[in-house]
Amino acid sequence: MVNYIGTATPRVDGRAKVTGEAKYAGEFNISGLAYGSVIESTIPKGRIARIDTSEALRVEGVLDVLTHENRPRMAGADDAWKDDVAPEEGSPFRPLYDDKIRFSGQPIALVLAEEWEIARYAASLVRIEYEKQPFVTDLYNQRDQAFVVKKPDKPRGNVKRAYAAADVRHEAEYFIPTENHNPMELFASTVTWDGGGKLTVYDKTQGVQNVQRYLCNVFKKKADDLRVISPFVGGAFGSGLRPQYHVVLAVLGALALKRSVRLVLTRQQMYGLGYRPATIERLALGAKADGTLDAITHEAIAVTSQFEDFSRNDTGWSALLYRSANANYLHRLARLDVPTSSDMRAPGAATGVYALESAMDELAVALNLDPVELRLRCYSDRDQNEDVPYTSKQLRECYRQGADAFGWDKRKPEPRSMRDGSELVGWGMATGVWEALQMPVAARIVLTANGHAEVSCAASDIGTGTYTIMAQVAADTLGLPLENITVKLGDSTLPQAPVEGGSWMAASASHAVATTAKEIRKELLALAKAMKNSPLAGAKLEDVVLADGKVVSKHDEGRAVSIADAMRHAAVDRIEKQKTNSFPDDTSHARNTHSAVFVEVKVDEQLGVIRVTRVVSAIAAGRILNTQTAHSQVMGSVVGGIGMALHEETLYDHRFGRIMNANIAEYHVPVNADVQDIKVIFVDEPDEVINPLGIKGLGEIGIVGVAAAIANAVYHATGKRVRDLPITLDKLQR
Ligand code: MOS
Repeated sequence: MVNYIGTATPRVDGRAKVTGEAKYAGEFNISGLAYGSVIESTIPKGRIARIDTSEALRVEGVLDVLTHENRPRMAGADDAWKDDVAPEEGSPFRPLYDDKIRFSGQPIALVLAEEWEIARYAASLVRIEYEKQPFVTDLYNQRDQAFVVKKPDKPRGNVKRAYAAADVRHEAEYFIPTENHNPMELFASTVTWDGGGKLTVYDKTQGVQNVQRYLCNVFKKKADDLRVISPFVGGAFGSGLRPQYHVVLAVLGALALKRSVRLVLTRQQMYGLGYRPATIERLALGAKADGTLDAITHEAIAVTSQFEDFSRNDTGWSALLYRSANANYLHRLARLDVPTSSDMRAPGAATGVYALESAMDELAVALNLDPVELRLRCYSDRDQNEDVPYTSKQLRECYRQGADAFGWDKRKPEPRSMRDGSELVGWGMATGVWEALQMPVAARIVLTANGHAEVSCAASDIGTGTYTIMAQVAADTLGLPLENITVKLGDSTLPQAPVEGGSWMAASASHAVATTAKEIRKELLALAKAMKNSPLAGAKLEDVVLADGKVVSKHDEGRAVSIADAMRHAAVDRIEKQKTNSFPDDTSHARNTHSAVFVEVKVDEQLGVIRVTRVVSAIAAGRILNTQTAHSQVMGSVVGGIGMALHEETLYDHRFGRIMNANIAEYHVPVNADVQDIKVIFVDEPDEVINPLGIKGLGEIGIVGVAAAIANAVYHATGKRVRDLPITLDKLQR
């Protein structure tokens, strides 16, 4: 019997992707398409005084120009615009709704034409007059106006007293700039006009059912009249969790023209969507001379828009991770004239843990203690926030195996003490922590008598490997070869699934498949037992498994009935079941993944050029479903972390409230030359509490801690502590 779970199984959709057979939202070929081009505001705040579309409308091939003045009807109530993952507080953005300008890059008109080039050209002919208003886009100018967000709200002990009494103290402020997701695939929708007001929407999204409900609310459509499809997503990193404005505009265009419409945003326009909020982090750590923490203060001020309050757990990681009798946390938001900030890979943790783990490194220096040793002295087997045990926590093993693989014991503690020719060598490390969440997901399995099974679910695979792991779990639990499993995803008409995010999909979807497969097994057993002289007579569900195309007794391999025989005998040619996963929702345990990240950098002393030459990431994330896709997940995350540490930064010209580098030439992300040796270790972490298969999820843990480990390595190499990301060569020279 083959067991696919836990093996290095190549992506089942790999061939479709590399051959171009996999279609993305902007690639579905539909006849009679009209094309849209968006016009964005060039000012950050004010109102549209006048839009003159006459010249654009005279261009041959232009079909219409939609603005707030002539668009089809959209809902007026805020609730209609609140998607599944919208912030609780505030009023979501509505494109082309009224004359108000809320941020630079806001869509204010949609040109529709027979060809995209015509639409784009005509867009340049639309004249817009604004009434400008004063604005602010600089977080540092607004920090004093920041307001407090409720969570986290569990201070411990008396931080003030403990900090004052501490033997060793470290206090500093850290900064993470605005970052944009920059997935390879541009945001796009192809909306097909199916007649009678019915629409099929091919959209780039992390959640087809979220987009479907949202569009039905916004356009007052019946659920059956609007279908959203997104079988493949070319990267998203959180930018596709909420429905983006392009999909609203594409539907507006289709409704206005009564015709199919395609809208693809430009790279520049994607900077008018959500982003990782710029965040100021203040850490104050107090320790006893023996290297145990006694006081933690973590405060954060993050960016949101004027109209919605987006925030994520940023400071709470400090509360969770380390033993400290006294702790205090404060999260604040500052309103700027920008779009609402959004989730970006490990939202809150990528930023908050960067600050915490940088501060821990500085504390280790102040204590004259090895950074790993400091973490071990503050190690906690319980969630320090809630004072409960973890379902599993093998972070100690991450430190041990990561340090071993890296050769950490050869580190000389003094900064600037290690060299390789003309380059300074620095070794740094950090801890990572993320959540292991589960969400309700339904899966349908249709088993046919020829031994094939189709597994379907509305979940999206955003490149993470969802197709593959669901096929693996189905193959193992149905006892069929992997080739006999077909997985269908990314269609709002399929069984219920939440957005693909939060690292919850692998655990949730695989249990939905396993739960449904159990129903299939139950039915097959009943059919097998109904056969005359059945070798499985009297067998209970728990006594049998599906393996090698048979219903087999666990206790006696000889007692078996082939699936084909059981179905043929009962004249059943297909068995269809659909179930939703279930999981304990109690608060008796904390559910988290952990990591230890070790980094080597080499720094050119004269030029300040930093190269990340080696990374070892040791991850504890429960049972690994697929060592190959899991490895890719973490490698990709580490690359994201390198970008965060050394490259990524959305730069504003605050005089105009506009982004200066809204392109991937000037918004730097790591390229091949920036990525060298990345070693990923999965630490064995059995977990019998979290769910029956012991799965936790890997989408985000791999980025957490990476930026801090790099910053700490740069300090070790150079003796220079740069506390505002990204660490660019000019900052090393100042
Ligand atoms: Mo992730 S930021 O939940 O797509």
